[in-house]
Amino acid sequence: MPLLSINKITGGYGDSEVLRQVSMTVEQHEIVAIIGPNGAGKSTLMKAVFGLLHPREGNIVFDEHDISQLAPHQIVKLGMCYVPQVANVFTNLSVDENLEMGAFTLKTKYLETSKQQVYDMFPQLKERRRQTVGKMSGGERQMVAMGSALMLQPRLLLLDEPTAALSPKLVDDIFHHIDRINKIGIAIMMVEQNARQSLQMAHRGYVLANGENRQEGSGQALLADPKVGSLYLGG
Ligand SMILES: Nc1ncnc2c1ncn2[C@@H]1O[C@H](COP(=O)(O)OP(=O)(O)OP(=O)(O)O)[C@@H](O)[C@H]1O
Ligand SMILES: [Mg+2]
Repeated sequence: MPLLSINKITGGYGDSEVLRQVSMTVEQHEIVAIIGPNGAGKSTLMKAVFGLLHPREGNIVFDEHDISQLAPHQIVKLGMCYVPQVANVFTNLSVDENLEMGAFTLKTKYLETSKQQVYDMFPQLKERRRQTVGKMSGGERQMVAMGSALMLQPRLLLLDEPTAALSPKLVDDIFHHIDRINKIGIAIMMVEQNARQSLQMAHRGYVLANGENRQEGSGQALLADPKVGSLYLGG
């Protein structure tokens, strides 16, 4: 059974239907990339998986639990964390404080261990643990956001455009970190504008367009598909 399985979900905001019969799966330890045009419904899909909106039809099963109608705090307890596309850090707090906010449900004795693991993953953050996050670069902020999500040691991490608005060097950096996070056994479902690069590192990928499944396959197969290339990878 997949770690996550999204089964024909339909839903959106109020009366507007954004997602139509969308189905996807994420296996244990897998990296799955979701690509597609602006407004396709990628962020909406992530929000539905994390319980920020509930599908009108279909269901979402995580680790054998039907989470379709659960709230985010209940979904977190099952082992899933989410880094949204925007407003994913507390800019007026330090790195240390951001990590603590990520794990405010943890007992104090686990807090230090978890923080140490995050700093091992992001040594760059450790050096700057007392710094206010609002004064850090976009790439560093993204690391803080991912670090905060990792504080709870999830089995599945949802990342919505982790490399948006970063320079090519920082994009490489973030992808490198995502790969390392995956190698310690955490499954990743990520939405990415850097479609080519994300498919190169993903085990599998999906194309979402107009709120519907368009294509799916291994990262390599999608990269090699001329239709995907011309429509979604810029030729
Ligand atoms: N909070 C909201 N209330 C109402 N409609 C919304 C809301 N958020 C998004 N939408 C609409 O839902 C549709 C899908 O938006 P969504 O943010 O999921 O797209 P996306 O694929 O993530 O796009 P992008 O690549 O630009 O991030 C759009 O038409 C958008 O206008
Ligand atoms: Mg989006």
